[in-house]
Amino acid sequence: MTKRWRLLAVLASTLLVLTGCAGFGGIRLDSVGEEGTVSYFKVALNQTESHPSFIALEAFAEDLNEKTDGRYVVEVFPNEQLGSQQEVLQMVKSGAIEMAIVSGTQLENVNTDFRVLNMPTTFSSIAHQMDVLQQPEIVGDLFASLEEDENITVLGGYTQGERHIYTTFGPVTTPEDLAGQKIRVQESDMHIRMIELMGGSATPLSYGEVYSAMQAGVLDGAENNIVSYLTARHFEVAPYLSYTTHLVGLDYMIMRHDLLQAMPEADHELLYEAWYDSMDYHTELWLEETEAAKAETEAGGASFHEVDNEAFNEALQPIVDQYVSTDYQKELFEAIRDADTGEGSGN
Ligand code: GCU
Repeated sequence: MTKRWRLLAVLASTLLVLTGCAGFGGIRLDSVGEEGTVSYFKVALNQTESHPSFIALEAFAEDLNEKTDGRYVVEVFPNEQLGSQQEVLQMVKSGAIEMAIVSGTQLENVNTDFRVLNMPTTFSSIAHQMDVLQQPEIVGDLFASLEEDENITVLGGYTQGERHIYTTFGPVTTPEDLAGQKIRVQESDMHIRMIELMGGSATPLSYGEVYSAMQAGVLDGAENNIVSYLTARHFEVAPYLSYTTHLVGLDYMIMRHDLLQAMPEADHELLYEAWYDSMDYHTELWLEETEAAKAETEAGGASFHEVDNEAFNEALQPIVDQYVSTDYQKELFEAIRDADTGEGSGN
C-alpha cells in the first residue's frame, strides 16, 4: 500500500471510530459480542505472509471465529500495510485498529519495565521465555500496566527467537570486528547501548527500511533472527551471519483495553484460549522455520559463522546493571531467571 492509501485507510477508520459505526474500521463497544452482530478486528503485523507470525495469527483468527460461531472476524494486515510498529501502537491506543504485534522495544518506550524482558541474558531459551509468558504471577502486572494510561492490554507474545548480527562486509568474531561499523537496531535506548557494548556503531531504524539502507551502504549490518533474515530478504544484501546469539527477543500481541473490557466475560475465555493456542503453534512453527530459513538463505549465498561468544557475553555484562534499576525491575528479573529450568534449547 502506498503512503497515501495507507493514510486514507487510517483516516477512514478513525472517522468510523469517531462516528461509532460498525463494520470496517469501527466497533460498537456497546454491542460487541452480541448474538446477531459481527465484530471486525484488524490486526497489524510488520512481517510477510510466509513468516510464522502471520501463519499463527491466521490460525488465531480462524479459531476465534469458529469458537464464537462467527461473532468475531479477525483480519490480519501483514507487511506494515497499516504502518510501522511505532505507528500501529498509536492506532491501537486511539482505537483506530483493534490489535497489533509489536516488538518489545516498542513497549519499552512506553514503560521502561518492559526492558527486563527484552534484554540480553534475561531468557536462556525460547522454552524459558514461553514458559514465563504463561505465568500471570510473574508477568500479569506488567501486561496490565498500560491499560489505564495507554488503553492497551498485552495478551501475551510470540518469540523472536535468537538474534544474531549479520553484515555486508564479512564475518565478525569478536567485538573488535564491529568497530566503526554501522549496525541497525530497533528504536530503543537499551538496544543502542547493546550494540555499542558489542563494539558497533548503532543506528536505530524501523524494520521496513533496513533492506534498502543496507543495500545503499548506509548501514553495514543489522541484527535479527534467521527467520526474518530470510523473510525480509536481508541475506541478499548482508550475506555474513555471525552467531552472536545476543538476545532471545520477544514480540507482544497488544489489544485495545476498552474493547477487551466491552467484550462479554465468556468471550474473554474464548479469546485467550484461541490466543494461547496460537502462541503454542507459533513456537512449533518457529523451530521448524528457523532450520528451513538457514537452509534457504545458505542456498541463496549466505554464510553462517561461529563467534567468540565469551567475548560478546563479557562485553554485554554491564547492561543488566544499567537497565534493571528499580526494585520492581529487580524482582521481575530475578523471578524470570528463577523460572529457568535450563531445559530449553535455542533458535
Ligand atoms: C523481528 C520481530 C519484529 C521486529 C523486527 C525488527 O523480526 O519479530 O517484531 O520489528 O525483528 O528488528 O524490527
